[in-house]
Amino acid sequence: MSSLQSHILPLLYDPRETLYIKPGGELGAQGDPNLIGIIPPIAPGNFGSKSFRKEFGLRYAYIGGAMVGGISSRAMCVALADMGSVGIFGASGLNPAVIEGEIEKLKDELLPGQTFGSCLIHTPQDPSWEEKVVEIYLKSGVTLIEASAFMQISPSLVRYRLSGLTTTPDGTIVAPNRVIAKVSRLELAKRFFSPPPPKIVQEALNRGWITEREASLAPRVPMAQDLTAEADSGGHTDFRPALSLWPSAARLADEYTAKHDYRQPLRVGAAGGLGTPLALLAAQDMGMSYFVTGSINQCCQESGLSEEAKILLGKAGQTDVSPAPAADMFELGSKIQVLKYGTLFAPRANKLAELYRQCQTLADIPPEEAKNLEEKIFRKPISVIWEETRTFFKERDPATLEKALANPKLQMALVFRWYLGQASRWAISGLTDRRTDWCVFCGPSLGAFNEWVSGTIYEDPANRRVADLAGLLLHGAAVIKRLSLARDLGLLPDDCYFNLSPPSPEELANFF
Ligand SMILES: Cc1cc2nc3c(=O)[nH]c(=O)nc-3n(C[C@H](O)[C@H](O)[C@H](O)COP(=O)(O)O)c2cc1C
Repeated sequence: MSSLQSHILPLLYDPRETLYIKPGGELGAQGDPNLIGIIPPIAPGNFGSKSFRKEFGLRYAYIGGAMVGGISSRAMCVALADMGSVGIFGASGLNPAVIEGEIEKLKDELLPGQTFGSCLIHTPQDPSWEEKVVEIYLKSGVTLIEASAFMQISPSLVRYRLSGLTTTPDGTIVAPNRVIAKVSRLELAKRFFSPPPPKIVQEALNRGWITEREASLAPRVPMAQDLTAEADSGGHTDFRPALSLWPSAARLADEYTAKHDYRQPLRVGAAGGLGTPLALLAAQDMGMSYFVTGSINQCCQESGLSEEAKILLGKAGQTDVSPAPAADMFELGSKIQVLKYGTLFAPRANKLAELYRQCQTLADIPPEEAKNLEEKIFRKPISVIWEETRTFFKERDPATLEKALANPKLQMALVFRWYLGQASRWAISGLTDRRTDWCVFCGPSLGAFNEWVSGTIYEDPANRRVADLAGLLLHGAAVIKRLSLARDLGLLPDDCYFNLSPPSPEELANFF
């Protein structure tokens, strides 16, 4: 390191300082005629969109995204709210009664003015489930939802968005229920950036879910003011590259704002791959309005995942993840991304998908394969699993059971989905006897984070807290922005990389 770098680097690392630079890298003062440049303070609180932060009452445009089955827990939402960002409660996969109880507790735990959201997952195979969850959200005053896995706009989603829609005396539309849509494809983004489809508005009206007045205002609001463009991520993913997805989604936001003449411009947030400050800065520099993380948060103390599974996650590298079939959209061939380090879930689940493609009924499965399934994967006879599945669907979704009784291929799908669904629960509860079957959603961002913090206090998941991780990414992005400006001024070598060591929690606390 040159003497120039050794005197300038510590100053760059504090993003609050303004640096007045003279020739040769000497520091000057404001107004000095010899200045060759200024490195301004970079405040993480200015990252993302101002209107987004204002609307949601946030200091930071940072979201801890939903994680199924309460993995993004109440504790996670509270920790993120305390630092001035927002957490989305992982309601997907939970029973409506549990969701209702958790939401009520969460509301009690948050301070007045703090923000939280909850997940609404699309369940086209069982619309009544979505209806129940929306009813809970409306009753409990949940005014922010993350809408995930929607292939089309559903009546329940329209009901949520339009309920309470009104105007101020100057004609400005007020939509109390905010939807952050999460998509990976532009054709779906178009649906969310458009007003609710008139046919579905009519259906919601016919069902008495919305008033005439709310229906009449529908053409003036987008289904979602905010849309998270989710690149290659943990969980359900299309494996889309962030570098091409984010700019396309941003272009679409401008196009649809103009097309529908919305007063408030549509906003796009970035998700997928945010595991280091450099990644967050890339999203910021691409103009993203907010930043969503998932995989890194799952390995934090506040996450609802078992401690044993967090230890595995803490050791994962970027390539220790693999595609696997999704339990909820198995028949459609949808994929999730899961951890492959320390578990055999991915190859086993992929085997099930292969058998599903090859066979028409459970009886078609070749005897050797069936034996392997029963002994190694299911550890139960297929007939027993079918009985359990039947009992479950009789209670939860009799219509699907009826279809399955008449359709052996669906029967096979339900049996396979038993394994795919249980495997997530085994990981969440930390069932050691089933460790080799644990299904742990995870994207490459976690490996990137692990690599970055290797050898520091954060290497151990026991020392990871969601708010600290948010702070590490935001603060680091601010510092790197300054390093980049310093490189442009010739203060750092042209070919230097922005390899920043993470500050300790105490140092970090100084900045937040
Ligand atoms: C364990 C886990 C569970 C997830 N569950 C959900 C979910 O239920 N609903 C949802 O919208 N997104 C879910 N996601 C996606 C995250 O909210 C977030 O968008 C994504 O993880 C961001 O990409 P990253 O994994 O690279 O950080 C999940 C992600 C993980 C890692």
